[in-house]
This record gives sequence, structure tokens and C-alpha cells, in this order.
Amino acid sequence: MVKVGIIGVGTVGESVANILKENQDVISARAGAMIEVKKGVVRSLDKKRNVEIALTTDVNEVLEDEEIDIVVELMGGVEEAYEVVKKALKNGKAVVTANKALLAYHRYELAELAKDIAFEYEASVAGGIPIINALREGLSANHIESIMGIMNGTCNYMLTKMRDEGAAYDEILKEAQELGYAEADPTFDVGGFDAAHKLLILASIAYGIDAKPEDILIEGIENITQEDIAFAKEFGYEIKLLGIAKKERSEVELRVHAALIKKEEMIAKIDGVMNGISVVGDKVGETLYYGPGAGGDATASAVIANIVDIARSGKSAPMLGFDRPMEGKLTLKESADVHSKYYLRINVNDKTGVLAKLTKLFEHYSISIETMLQRPTQNESANLLISTHLAKESDIQELMDKIASLEFVNSKPVMIRIVS
Ligand code: NAP
Ligand code: HSE
Repeated sequence: MVKVGIIGVGTVGESVANILKENQDVISARAGAMIEVKKGVVRSLDKKRNVEIALTTDVNEVLEDEEIDIVVELMGGVEEAYEVVKKALKNGKAVVTANKALLAYHRYELAELAKDIAFEYEASVAGGIPIINALREGLSANHIESIMGIMNGTCNYMLTKMRDEGAAYDEILKEAQELGYAEADPTFDVGGFDAAHKLLILASIAYGIDAKPEDILIEGIENITQEDIAFAKEFGYEIKLLGIAKKERSEVELRVHAALIKKEEMIAKIDGVMNGISVVGDKVGETLYYGPGAGGDATASAVIANIVDIARSGKSAPMLGFDRPMEGKLTLKESADVHSKYYLRINVNDKTGVLAKLTKLFEHYSISIETMLQRPTQNESANLLISTHLAKESDIQELMDKIASLEFVNSKPVMIRIVS
């Protein structure tokens, strides 16, 4: 019998406890042992819960229980969760977590602390999709050339509903929260931080890059409007929040932002709460991983896969994929040096000479315009919708600042990168 303690019995924790019971037949046969949840830890015992396990508010009742073999951390947050899992490891307990924020900041310290104790985190990236296993084990023969995809279910759900139903941003975010997709603080989702946490975890496994969220370009979907969605439709694009890792010689660029992506691309066809990640290896070529990126049961499916692996007590891969550092270490590329194509939305006073002044600025920064549209808005103003050829991130940022300061520009211009 393998005994489990669950710290955090919310959306995912409840599903873990319930699936371990409902699918006990298949799970115990695959694990070669019965798996039992001995106790769950919550903040409040007064909440109504859809779960039949013993509950406590005292985390030490799990961490110090000698009968408990595996601690499953599903409480979220960074520093408090870090203290909890450190203590679990110190007490010799295997750890399973779905907490990408914790790993974005502390994965290397935890790998060091865990040493030979199992520390697994399949559910931390892309919910129910076994992407950690694929990257860490299935693709271990490859140099990874790129990783690109949709890594946040909440944003993909919201962008899909904005496109299909014209639904209001706040309303759909509320829906995503009710469905159990969003983080406790949903600004982590819509601000791009949750996708960045996941990208950083994948970048460690693929490239051995030890970076923190502060080191990379992170933007969310807060500025996307129906106008941008209409532009995307007209020019054959979808708007998606993407996580992108790309290796070029000895450098790796890592970035998370909303992107215009051609409708024909497979990633563009991924809608709703689904996630989809393309991984290109130098030997295997492109591989694509698709499935539910958030939600209690889908995430619990990945958490339980880790519990089963640990119960089998086979030797698993090193926590972050590398047994020792690779020769010719890769380094993180400066965000300012990244190249992309861009779409800009600029609201201007609709008067003589405005276009000429703007195009002169583009010329000054050597940014070449690919398409330009003018759409009238209220009060003798117009939206200029401009797409560019490849340009350097630092040049575009300077251009945007300059445009924002012009007297005939009515509001902060909006920029979305175009991924091709
Ligand atoms: P949740 O519904 O907010 O549940 C969190 C649980 O942790 C609640 O039961 C809460 O207790 C408990 N908790 C929080 N702080 C605690 C503390 N200091 N002491 C004791 N218990 C505490 O969150 P969730 O959606 O299940 O997510 C859990 C983790 O999985 C997070 O790291 C999240 O990022 C990750 N994750 C979630 C999903 C998803 O789709 N939801 C997918 C992948 C990964 P109360 O119930 O009493 O408040
Ligand atoms: N809030 C996250 C998302 C949960 O929406 O993708 C899954 O990690």
C-alpha cells in the first residue's frame, strides 16, 4: 500500500482524490500497489467539498506522518509551497506537484535538494498533456531546435470566445474561473506569467537554461480588442498567446506574448481550453502535443501518472532532464535582440500629413511596412492597422515609444507580434 497526503484540496486536489478512488482498478493494476489518500490539507474546514478524505488544516499532520510516502503539493503560490516541499523532501517523502510558479523560481534548488528522492511535476505544464515526459524522456536523443505553443488554457479559452461570440473580456474571464481553469490570481493567466512559468520549466529540460520570469519577455492578452480580432480575420490570422523557445547557435530566445499566427498552422487551430505545443528536435523533426491544458480532472490525470510512476519505484529520469551539464552551455538571448514581424494599431487624428510623419518614423528605425489599413473611428479619428516585415525588438520598442509621444496620436499604440 502506497500512502499519499494531498496539500491543497481545491480544483485539482479534489479531482486527484476522487480519480484515485473511481479508477482504483486500473491505477492499482498499473502501479502494482494500492494507492490510498491518507489525508488532505486545506486552509478552511468550513468549505463544502466534493471529496471523501480526512482533512486537516495542519500541514505537519501530512509532512510528519511516517506512514505517508508521497506528498502531493496542490496549494499553489511560491514561497509557502517551497517551504512545504522542502520539508517533505527533508523528511524523505517523494513529492509530486502541479505548481509551475514554484518551479519557475525554485526548480534548481529543488533538484539539488531532492537528489535521489523522486520529485515529479508532469501537471505543471499544459495540464493533462504528458509534455514533461515527452521532452525529458521521449526526445532525449535530440538537440531541441524550438518549442512553440499554447500553454495557458484560460487565455486560449478567452481568445476563442472573444473571436466566436464577441464576448466581453471580464465575463469570459469569470467563466474560466468558474470552470476551474484560472489561477487563484487570474492576472497570472491573462498577464502571460503562467505561460512563462511553464516555458521556463520546458527550457530547463530542453536546454539546461536556468532563467527566472524576470529574465524573459512576458506579455499577456489584456490589450487585445475586437478590432485586433477583426484585423486577424481579414488577413487570415488567429490571435493566440504563445510561449516560444528557439535555439540559434549558442543562444536561446524565450518569450511569451500574444501573436498573430496564420490560420493554416496547426497551432492556430487549437481552440478553447486546449493547449498545443510543437517541439522540433534535430533528429526527430516536428512533434506536436495536444490536449486539455487546464481543469481539475485533466490536471489530476497528469498528477496521478506521477504518483503511479513513484509507486512503481523504477529509476526515473533526472528531475530537470540532465544528469550533468552539457558541454558548450547555451545562454539566454537578450529580449531586445529578438527579430519578429509586427502588427501595430495606432489611433490618430484623421488629418493631413499624419501618415507622412508616421511613415518617416518607420523609415528612421529601418522598419519596413508590409500592409497598412485605415479605419475611421469616432471624433474624426482613425485606427491605422499596420503590419511590418522582420524587425528588431529594440527598434520596434523605440518606435512605439516615439509614436506614443506624437501629438496626433490619441492613445498608447498596440503592438502584436506576427509569428510565421
Ligand atoms: P485551488 O482550487 O485554489 O486550490 C488550492 C487548495 O490549496 C485549496 O484547497 C486551499 O484551501 C489550499 N491551500 C492554499 N493555501 C493553503 C495553505 N497555506 N495551507 C493549506 N491549504 C492551502 O487551486 P487549483 O486550481 O487546485 O491549483 C492547485 C495548483 O495546481 C496550483 O499550483 C495551480 O497552479 C496548479 N494547476 C492548476 C490547474 C488547474 O487547471 N486548476 C492546472 C495545472 C496546474 P481552501 O480550499 O481551504 O481554500
Ligand atoms: N491557469 C492555468 C491555465 C492552469 O489556464 O492554463 C493550467 O496550468
